[in-house]
Amino acid sequence: MSNENFIKNILCIGAGYVGGPTMAMIAAKCPRYKVTVVDVNAEKIKAWQADNLPIYEPGLLDVVKKARGRNLFFSTDTEAHIKSADIIFVSVNTPTKMYGAGAGKTADLQFWEKTARDILRVAESDKIIVEKSTLPVRTAEAMERILSSNGKGIRFDVVSNPEFLAEGTAISDLENPDRVLVGSKETERGRRARESIVEIYANWISRDRIITCDIWSAELSKLVANAFLAQRISSINSISALCEKTEADVKKVAHAIGMDSRIGLKFLNASIGFGGSCFRKDILNLVYICEYYGLHEVAEYWENVIKINEYQEGRFVQKMIHAMFNTIANKRIALFGFAFKANTGDTRESPAIYVTQKLAEERAHVVITDPKAIRNAEQDLKDIREYVEFETDPYKAAQGAHAVAILTEWDLFKTLDYKKIYENMEKPAFLFDGRNILDHRRIFDIGFNVYPIGKPPLMHF
Ligand SMILES: NC(=O)c1ccc[n+]([C@@H]2O[C@H](COP(=O)([O-])OP(=O)(O)OC[C@H]3O[C@@H](n4cnc5c(N)ncnc54)[C@H](O)[C@@H]3O)[C@@H](O)[C@H]2O)c1
Repeated sequence: MSNENFIKNILCIGAGYVGGPTMAMIAAKCPRYKVTVVDVNAEKIKAWQADNLPIYEPGLLDVVKKARGRNLFFSTDTEAHIKSADIIFVSVNTPTKMYGAGAGKTADLQFWEKTARDILRVAESDKIIVEKSTLPVRTAEAMERILSSNGKGIRFDVVSNPEFLAEGTAISDLENPDRVLVGSKETERGRRARESIVEIYANWISRDRIITCDIWSAELSKLVANAFLAQRISSINSISALCEKTEADVKKVAHAIGMDSRIGLKFLNASIGFGGSCFRKDILNLVYICEYYGLHEVAEYWENVIKINEYQEGRFVQKMIHAMFNTIANKRIALFGFAFKANTGDTRESPAIYVTQKLAEERAHVVITDPKAIRNAEQDLKDIREYVEFETDPYKAAQGAHAVAILTEWDLFKTLDYKKIYENMEKPAFLFDGRNILDHRRIFDIGFNVYPIGKPPLMHF
């Protein structure tokens, strides 16, 4: 299809976990839009152009292949594509700021602001700018101020369209989302810009699932959604600690409370804790905003969600050390899983990073196995390489180990031959199930000393 046959040019700045899959889905569902994704990272763009995609996400390659070269393109030429774009999604990273005011809490907006300035410098015509990145509430206002300082007579309408996909299920989340949220200024122009974005999604999502609202509510909803999700995990994890003391079983408690339709069963799996690039960062952001407005009690309430997560990770490592007779120096310990959750290679903020660091501090020899995350794990652990080994085969990873710790709930780890694993381990052999995915009684009967989360341990001594 030649350029003239496309009804609109969409550009996305940032070809990461959000920009790549989201734009691939839009392109696949809307053949009349030309969708281009740009990134400053040339290697990443090259990977998107080939079949060795830079991220692992089930079903993603098929969607990319459907549209790539037809109406989906990947490029490093940001300037040229800003010029020709009608709609620009900005999907750059917004990590926690690690310096200056708000360090460790607020979002680092340097990548975000740079894109605003790039757009401002290069643009020659009116554009709709879509906040796809997760941003502190009222960031759109700052974006609009920067953009409206152009003096070129160009109009920019800033719209907030936060992304709710979850890694590991990104494609089904994008194809069939619970809702899509589009916020804009409540002006004639604002509403028109918002409708242009709604029209894109309406190509495959029914209109009753596309929610529109003012821009501040849209921005805040994303932070609050992540805070609520993380809060459920911290809530059940806090109860897991109590279960371990009282011999109650957290799985049974979760099931009993989750059957209450007001509570629901999702996000009630006790575990080693949440990870991923978003939960911690977005809650910290919420905390920072609350503090900024003097809402100290509200800030403290949400900060505790993070504190319980850290407590849970710490408890897990302490349990390992304590169970193994308070010394793990020179002991081989196999970690099954390094990704922050199953079905992704993403290791950002993965509890496994913390666990490995703590075990290495105790001079253990840590062997990591993961079906998709070893490349990222190597990067994460480059400062403690002498204590760490990587092994693609879980059986080899566990060979000669004193303990296996399950840190990611990959299906693969549920179906391994644990009898074979046990036979090749040092004795007594320990299994710490940080995701509660195994049949603990069966594992105990094989001979392991088993330490689940939120249930009493099963020990042979
Ligand atoms: N990962 C998720 O599951 C998820 C879900 C919902 C929302 N979000 C939010 O979406 C945003 C992006 O997250 P991500 O996980 O895709 O991050 P990412 O780090 O995977 O991708 C961001 C990309 O932006 C690129 N980039 C940065 N500055 C640029 C610039 N000036 N020009 C061009 N490219 C630039 C980076 O090179 C990187 O490839 C964040 O705000 C995040 O909070 C993430």
